[in-house]
Amino acid sequence: MQVLVHPDGEALARAAASTIAERAAGGPITVGLAGGSTPGPTYAALGETDIDWEAVTLWLSDERWVPHDAPESNGRKALERLPASAAGRLIRPRFTAYLDPADSAVHYEAQLRAIHPDGRPDVVILGMGSDGHTASLFPSSEALHAPDNRWYVANHVASLDVWRLTVTPALLRAADLVLVLVTGGDKAGVLADAINGPDGRYPIQLLRNSEGDVRFLVDEAAAAALPT
Ligand code: 6PG
Repeated sequence: MQVLVHPDGEALARAAASTIAERAAGGPITVGLAGGSTPGPTYAALGETDIDWEAVTLWLSDERWVPHDAPESNGRKALERLPASAAGRLIRPRFTAYLDPADSAVHYEAQLRAIHPDGRPDVVILGMGSDGHTASLFPSSEALHAPDNRWYVANHVASLDVWRLTVTPALLRAADLVLVLVTGGDKAGVLADAINGPDGRYPIQLLRNSEGDVRFLVDEAAAAALPT
């Protein structure tokens, strides 16, 4: 795992976007998009690169169990920041009022496996919550213990009393490149503890078992408690 410190969120976003654009220049890639607010500038910065969107398939590292046009939908939020030319490249989980989130996750997982015949997602973008969750793998939630043969599951988040769809630890272990975007001083303590502290305290620490390249892109505020 690498920790790459950037002066601020905009510099971090430009670095993340150029990493993805460089990968896309090497041939077709898939990119899992994180939700929340941190990745927005990165999605906007992708619009400033020369990325060929025909070479990119986008999917969602996690999604809220809400209609696609709901303001809190991660897919909607990503599309609001991505360039218009990326809009047709995003595969979103099915949502309907009568569909069970677990069934939607099974269907989405089949789509993900179909675009990853080698079993290795190319790039997965993640964020980190101030409780150390990532995607919708929240502390003490069932999805943390999803079977190794699952890539995407429904997860009830008791602390929020909501259903989410999320990547599993197995998918994150298999990813070729994981970019974790963390900004803000409110996450500094958890980030330092997650990176340097004992294992098993935070869901984000499951990335320690990743087979691929894991890079934390952080701003100086989030890096404040890291050893210098
Ligand atoms: C979500 C995200 C979640 C997010 C963290 C950080 O659906 O909310 O996927 O894991 O990455 O909660 O959120 P911020 O970037 O808004 O701090």
